Amino acid sequence: MRTTLIVGNWKMNKTASEAARFVRELTSALPRDPAVEIVLVPPFTALESVRAALGSASHLGLGGQNMHWEAQGAFTGEISGPMLRDLGCTYVIVGHSERRALFGERDGDVHKKVRSALLHGLRPILCVGESLEERESGRTEPLVTGQVAAALNGLSQRELDAITIAYEPVWAIGTGRAATTEQAVTVHRAIRKHIAAGWHHDTAGRMRILYGGSVTPQNAASLLSEPDIDGALVGGACLKTDSFATIALAAKNRPTH
Ligand code: PGA
Repeated sequence: MRTTLIVGNWKMNKTASEAARFVRELTSALPRDPAVEIVLVPPFTALESVRAALGSASHLGLGGQNMHWEAQGAFTGEISGPMLRDLGCTYVIVGHSERRALFGERDGDVHKKVRSALLHGLRPILCVGESLEERESGRTEPLVTGQVAAALNGLSQRELDAITIAYEPVWAIGTGRAATTEQAVTVHRAIRKHIAAGWHHDTAGRMRILYGGSVTPQNAASLLSEPDIDGALVGGACLKTDSFATIALAAKNRPTH
């Protein structure tokens, strides 16, 4: 009942012209299957060229990597929800750990971004995850559910239906050391339980919870074999056609539950 979602987070990679070339190659390599939704998240500067390269009938969606919570104004260097919508984005990544760690984003900012995204018709992909130190001191679940609670505080059940959560342990991002399937499943279940307790078990049942952090063509099939893992947020491995296509195929071929 939850459509598998594979998101490619390009981070600060590819110019607009590189992006257009890449997308033309990628489109034909990715599966077209109603059971798998695929979303590309290039840098802001490449959104227009990616949209043009995809064409209007594309089966691939488009998202932004970040946004400001205000719709417009004196915020030099920032991008707003309406700007992303106007370029064809339907999703936006919010609260990525690189934003939190390198650019000082706090839970309160993430909350404002989630609210603003919803207001402007974008579906937030809310990233949460613990550091290695937090994991080793046994604080993973309270930490992660605390981030979820702070970001989604006060949202209605209907608003929650537009949200996707991405569990991305900080120690797994870009390190080549993914969480084991068991570690991911444990946290995904804790998040789902938290949503059920805070809202409704039907809301929790509809919520897509992705795993992110060193997802590769090698580990994707195992992660996606779990009913509690509804897809993947892919960084490094989404920058090459072969590896991203292999991950998307693993999603297409995942066992039906
Ligand atoms: P990675 O990044 O796949 O390169 O670990 C994932 C992410 O940061 O979303």
